[in-house]
Amino acid sequence: MKIISNPLELKQYLQSQHATVGYVPTMGALHEGHISLIKHARAENELVVVSIFVNPTQFLAGEDLEKYPRRDEADKKICELAGVDVVFMPQSDDLYFEDEVKVQAPNVRGYVLEGATRPGHFSGVLRVVMKLLNIVNPTRAYFGKKDAQQLHLIELMVKHYFMDVIIVPVDTVRESDGLALSSRNVYLSKEQREDALKISKSLYSASQMVSSGVYDSYVIKEKMLEILSPLEIGYVAIVNREFELIDKVEIGNSVILVEALVGSTRLLDNIWL
Ligand code: PAJ
Repeated sequence: MKIISNPLELKQYLQSQHATVGYVPTMGALHEGHISLIKHARAENELVVVSIFVNPTQFLAGEDLEKYPRRDEADKKICELAGVDVVFMPQSDDLYFEDEVKVQAPNVRGYVLEGATRPGHFSGVLRVVMKLLNIVNPTRAYFGKKDAQQLHLIELMVKHYFMDVIIVPVDTVRESDGLALSSRNVYLSKEQREDALKISKSLYSASQMVSSGVYDSYVIKEKMLEILSPLEIGYVAIVNREFELIDKVEIGNSVILVEALVGSTRLLDNIWL
C-alpha cells in the first residue's frame, strides 16, 4: 500500500496505472461505515484510493476542528487490511491556495437543514471534494447515505460541473443497537450514548408509521419529536430526493432526517424510504 501526500505525485501515479479507480474520501478516524465504502470500492474497481484529510474549510468557527479525532497510524492499518492500494494524506497547504477560485454550495439546497445550522459548511465540503475528485480522477467515488444532504450536493456538483465520475451512494452502517456509526461517537459518554439511541429509534418509528399507512409528515414528525425528547433538536425534516420539504411521504422518493445535539455532540441520522 502506498502513502502519498503530494497531489501531483498521486495524479501522476494513478495516470500511469491505466486502471479503473474507486475512491473513498474521508476525514479519518475510520470505522465500519468507512470500511463499508472501501469494500464497495474494492469490489467494483481495479485500484482503490482512500483519502484522509480533516478539511478545515468545512468546519465553522467554534466547531470541533482542533479536537476532531486523528488516528493516522490506526487508519493506515485499517486501509491496509481492507485492501486499499493508495492512501492519500495531504496537508492543508498541499490542497489550498491563497485567494483561490471557489466552488460554492447552491443558495437554497446548500443552506437548508444541515446548511442552516452550519451555514457555509457545504461550501467547504464541495470545495474540497471538487479538488479531491480532480486529483484522483476516479471512475467511481463512494459516499455514505448517512450524510444525505452532502451526498445530494455532491451529486449536484458533479452534474452542474459536467464532471466525469460515477457517484455511488452506500447504505448507513449501524451498531447492533441502531446507533449510526460516526467518527464523532467517540465524544459520547456512556449515558450520552444511551440518549443518542433516541435518534435511530425515532427513525425506526417513522418507518413503521409509514409501513402502517401513515404518510402525513406533520404526524410523523410529531411522533419523532416525542421520542427524541428531551434532546436538543437541530431539525427533523422529511424531504424528497431533491431535498425539498414534503407534506406527505412518497415511498421510493423520501428521506427523513434528524440532527440532534447529545451533550455538545451534533449527531446526524436519516432513513431513506
Ligand atoms: P467523513 O465524516 O469521514 O465520512 C467519509 C464518508 O463516510 C462519507 O461519505 C460519509 O457519508 C461516510 N460515512 C460516515 N459514517 C457512515 C456510516 N455509518 N455508514 C456508511 N457511511 C458512512 O463526510 C466526510 O468525511 C467529509 O465531509 C468528506 C466527504 C471527506 C469531505 O471532507
